[in-house]
This record gives sequence, C-alpha cells and structure tokens, in this order.
Amino acid sequence: MTQRIIIDPVTRIEGHAKITIYLDDRDQVTDARFHVTEFRGFERFCQGRPFWEMAGLSARICGICPVSHLLASAKAGDRILAVTIPPAAVKLRRLMNLAQIIQSHALSFFHLSAPDLLLGWESDPATRNVFGLIDSNPELARAGIRLRQLGQEIIESLGGRKIHPAWSVPGGVREALPVEARDRFLARLPEAHAVTRSALDFFKRFLDTHAEETRVFGNFPSLFMGLVTPEGDWENYDGKLRFVDSSGKIVAECDPVEYERYIGEMVEKDTFLKSPYFKPIGYPNGVYRVGPLARLNISNRMGVAEADRELNEFRQRGGRVANASFFFHYARLIEILASLEFLERLLPDPELQATELRADAGVNRLEGIGVSEAPRGTLFHHYHVDKDGLLTKVDLVIATGQNALAMNRTVTQIARHYVNGATIAEPILNRIEAGVRAFDPCLSCSTHAV
Ligand code: NI
Repeated sequence: MTQRIIIDPVTRIEGHAKITIYLDDRDQVTDARFHVTEFRGFERFCQGRPFWEMAGLSARICGICPVSHLLASAKAGDRILAVTIPPAAVKLRRLMNLAQIIQSHALSFFHLSAPDLLLGWESDPATRNVFGLIDSNPELARAGIRLRQLGQEIIESLGGRKIHPAWSVPGGVREALPVEARDRFLARLPEAHAVTRSALDFFKRFLDTHAEETRVFGNFPSLFMGLVTPEGDWENYDGKLRFVDSSGKIVAECDPVEYERYIGEMVEKDTFLKSPYFKPIGYPNGVYRVGPLARLNISNRMGVAEADRELNEFRQRGGRVANASFFFHYARLIEILASLEFLERLLPDPELQATELRADAGVNRLEGIGVSEAPRGTLFHHYHVDKDGLLTKVDLVIATGQNALAMNRTVTQIARHYVNGATIAEPILNRIEAGVRAFDPCLSCSTHAV
C-alpha cells in the first residue's frame, strides 16, 4: 500500500500548485511530484482573434510576467509582417527586458526566498515571509523592494502602465524613453548596484556554511537551454538557441524559430503543466532546465566586466556547468548585476529617444515564432494566421513548463533525503517547497490562465 503526503498549496510561489510525496509501506519515499491542477486554456481562447491583438492580450496570459509575453508576442508578430524592426525599437525592447529581469529576480530573491535563507528553514512559518524579513532585517528587505521598484518604474515609463504594458507591438514599439526618465534611472543605478553586491556577498557566505542545500536541492546532471549571442555569450532577447549537457558540451544549436527540431511536448496525466523535453533523447530522459542557471551554464561569458568576474567565481564553486538547482538563486543575482551593467551601457544611448520606432506592413507570412528570455527561462510564442491575420493556431511554450521534469526530480531528491517516516515535520516540507522556489515557477502563465 502506498501513502501520499500532499503539500497544498506550495507557498511563496507565483500561482497555485501542489506537491505530492509518495511513500511505500515501509514509509520510504518512492516518488514526489509537483503539479498544477488549474487549467483555463488561453491558447484556445485566442483562436479567431487578429494577431495584432496578441501583444495587448499578453497581460491576460499572465498577470505576473506580462512583459515577457509582450516581447515574445511582438517578435512573433514581426515574423508575420516579415519586417526588420527599427534599431531603436530593438534597443527599447531590450531595455524593457532588462528591467523585467531586475524586477522579477528581485521579487524572487528578496521577497520569496530570502525569508528561508535569512530566517532559517526551522523558523516559525507564520513569520517566515517578507514581513518577518522586514522585522528582522529591515535594511535588506527595503533595499530589495527598492531594487524591484527600479525595474518596475522603467517598465512603467515605457509601457505607460505597470501591469498591462501593450507597448511592444508587431513591427516595433509605441513610445521612446523620455530624457527625464532616463536621467532618473541613471541616478539610481549606483544604489541598485550596491544592493545587488551585498545580496551576492550574503548568498556566497550562505553557500560557505550550507553545503547540504547545494548537494541535495535538485542536484543532478541534465541539459540546459537558452539564448546566447552569435558569439555564445549571455543573451536575453535574441541570438541563437543553445543546448549544453552537464559537461558543458554544446549538444545542439539552432535559430530559435527552428525550436521544434529539438523540443517535444508531453502532457502528463496528473498535471496541466505541459512537460517539454529534448527530442533527440526523448521523453522522459530528455530533461533540460531553463532560466538563470541555464543561461549562465550555456554562456561563454556574460559580456560585462563585474558580472564576468562573478561568473568565474560561480564556476569555481559550481563547476563549468553547475548542476545544483540551489544555484538558481546565485545565478539570479549575477543576472541582476549583469542587467544593471547593461543598463548603464544602454541608457545613455541617444537612440532611446528616437522617433522612428515602428515598421508598418501587412500579413506577409502565415506563421510567426517569437522567442525571448523571460526571467524564468526561454519563452516561445508560435502563431499561425490566415491571410487576414486571424489566428488559427496558438502555441505557447513557457519557461515553467520546461522546468517541470527538473522540478519533479528536485522535490523527489529533497524528499528522499529528509523524509523518514510518514509524519513529516513542517521544516522538512518547507525545504521541499524551497526546492521548487529555486526555479521561481510562474503557474499563472504555465497553465495559460485567462
Ligand atoms: Ni507568468
């Protein structure tokens, strides 16, 4: 007879999900699964609508990561128009994506995960949250909130509204960056930089004294996937799609629009989360991870000085390819640092105030694929349209789904390590949840909620 222990809901993640732990008759963990039980079918809902509207609908795909959907959607639209968008529009979209990485990563680290790291796995669950953090370490908590605000304000200054920025459109963008806003953001970079530095120093000290988390919180070989520049460096908006294995060997590389050569999708019976896998290996062994950890593992370099120094240290600690999912947090902080350095380079560019921002065209292709890096990992929007531009088919491949197989392995590994007997103490359950939190899943968009 098997017993089940259910953690429902998983706390401090974006959206609703649960974890089931299976025990055999000797109370040993046989398996554990992370699943999503809600489905609202966004892809079906879009059929028959004009593809022009998709960018504006992106906030309905997900209220948590609308910016990422906005960018992938606009890029799919660019392909349908078959245009090269103005260089200024590319820079402005990149600016928005960097801001999104900063705000999303700051939320994940400071609000959702720092309570475990600072207050401890064993601390009182009633205060093991951002409010408890504000009480015990107000300086760090406030610094994290301000860092996140910087990202949010950049998004707002471009998109007009914080949550529904229908600003990036097929062919380009609607608005440039006002000079006044640029100067305000440039003035805030030094503080943001200092906050990120101190979070990195804190996290490295944590690693020095917590080897167990590195060893058992989802530490296994897998493939890693994401976008890299043509030179093979860190990228988040364009470039080529790369897969590496756990030794760092490049096992596949292609134009992102050819992703179906390598990515297959499977729906498992107890979840609404689609589980993509690496086709040449097959299901379920073709596990790959996406997101901050994957992007660092697949890149030769970050391409900016300070983040490159951090990447070197990251590799000294984790190996050329870090297999430890606990390093997602570490990678997230290095990506914030890199994004700030890229902002410092990009913000003074006068092209951000350009007036030529949008290429005009009609439907020139009946299929469009848009790919960009969401903070959580590679995001694909794949549209088919008729000659009037009405959507006949919409397929979205979401970061969280791509990490689904790896999240299952992670919760199983943690449960096997800590669970002994059918009564599980709360701090153990919290560690299992923390294994999922390292991936920073967004269940809101992975089930395509409307
Ligand atoms: Ni989302």
